This record gives sequence, structure tokens and C-alpha cells, in this order.
Amino acid sequence: MENLDLNRLPKHIAIIMDGNGRWAEEQGQDRLYGHYHGVMSVRKVVEAATEIGIQYLTLYAFSTENWDRPQTEVLGLMSLFVDTISKEVPDLHKNNIRLHFIGNLDLLPDEARQALASSTSITAQNTGLQLVIALSYSSRWEIIQAAKSLAEQVKAGKLDPIQIDEACFVQSLSTKDFPDPELMIRTSGEYRISNFLLFQLAYAELYFTETRWPAFGKDAFFEAIMAYQSRERRFGKTSAQINLDIENY
Ligand code: IPE
Ligand code: IPE
Ligand code: MG
Repeated sequence: MENLDLNRLPKHIAIIMDGNGRWAEEQGQDRLYGHYHGVMSVRKVVEAATEIGIQYLTLYAFSTENWDRPQTEVLGLMSLFVDTISKEVPDLHKNNIRLHFIGNLDLLPDEARQALASSTSITAQNTGLQLVIALSYSSRWEIIQAAKSLAEQVKAGKLDPIQIDEACFVQSLSTKDFPDPELMIRTSGEYRISNFLLFQLAYAELYFTETRWPAFGKDAFFEAIMAYQSRERRFGKTSAQINLDIENY
């Protein structure tokens, strides 16, 4: 942590928490054992993010495609979500953390939906870390939802297609209240985005690590931020332009 430049932290970090299953299999355990340990890593990373003052943390917990996993794993994950949320809310609330959920939540079982709704309303006034959980989430689904909603506004005569620019489009995404992530971390050695925040990650720095999610902790999190801080974010400009901007800053 002492190697971090606290004045140049990303505002928003997004994480694809991958490798629970493989981690468990490597321990000779079943996949759900890995998911349980994955929750502990979530706790550690949320604590680390709070400690250094990260404003937004988005965690990919379950994709739309994950519904196609074996039913026992899906059911196990659903009950783990409900248990974890109910157990963790008092602590999250005490730490001024606000919970948000993005994804096609209509697909979740009633019990899970209720737990989510209650946790978001309990923490609704909190101004510390904004913790966004992507659950039953698919970025293509989200983008299509946005297109539908804009089409409906046009049909209702509330919107002129000429007004549809980037700022307007972003308002129809489920992430409309959050800035784009500057840093995206994926664990467990997969080098892909798996339908996560396709629009929002346009200029994010991508960081991949071999570490399985249940083995990922505070130090690994800080290491990812250090890697981010060593990158030069050019946004299409040249390196010389960027350095000139810093001098003029
Ligand atoms: C990530 O770990 C958690 C979820 C997708 C729910 P995995 O379950 O994908 O673990 P691996 O990739 O099979 O090791
Ligand atoms: C992505 O992980 C989704 C989550 C971490 C929740 P997967 O393990 O489902 O992704 P793929 O199938 O390897 O691309
Ligand atoms: Mg995986």
C-alpha cells in the first residue's frame, strides 16, 4: 500500500472475479467450496478499496451465461448470494458503503430479489464506497435494453433521434450513475471480457493476473492499482501531448 500514489487512484475499478471452480478443484474440493472462499476475497477487496478511498467498485458475480451451468451450482450460488448479502449488510452499512445491483434481476429467484431490494434500500443514503454487483448481467443485454428504451422514448414523441449522442445513450445504461471504470481486473489467467461492461470499458486499462479469485487479496489488489499507475493513458493522443498536459497541469 505504501507504494501507491493515493493522489492518482482510479475512481472506479471493475473486477471479473474468475477462477473459483479451478481453485476448489486444485484443493480437491467441489466448485461451491471455491465460491464460498471467493466471498472472503470480496470482503478483503472491499475492505482494501474502502481503506484507500476508491469511490466505485464493480464486481462481476454472475453472468447471464452462468445460468447455463449445472443446476446444483446455480442453486448453490443463489443461496450463497442471499446468505452473503443478508450477513454482510450490517457491516457494509456501518462502513457507509452503498450497494447497487446491475443485470437482469427479473431472472433471479424471489428470495434473492427481496434480499437485494432490502440491501439497496438499507444502504441507499450511504456516501462511501459505491459497491456495484453485476448479477445475472450481460453487457449485450444491457446495450439492447438501452436501445429499446431510447426507441420507446422516440415512439412516445419524447425524444428526437438527433439528440441521441454518447451522453444521452449512457443515460439509458444501468451504469448511468457511475463513471466509466479506469481499471478492469480479471483473475485466473483468462484474457477475455466475457460480456462485461463492453461499452463502459472503452478506455479502461486492463489488468490480468494468474491468481485465482479465492487467492486474491489486498496485496494483489494494490498490485493491480500500482500497475495501473505505471501505465500512460493516452486516449488517442501521442505520448508527447500527454506529457505536455501533465507539465501544464
Ligand atoms: C467465477 O469463478 C465465479 C462465477 C463465474 C460465478 P468460476 O466459477 O468461473 O471458476 P472457474 O473459471 O471455473 O475456475
Ligand atoms: C465471467 O466468468 C463471469 C463472472 C466472473 C461472474 P466465467 O467463468 O463465466 O467466464 P468464461 O465462461 O470463462 O468466459
Ligand atoms: Mg470461470
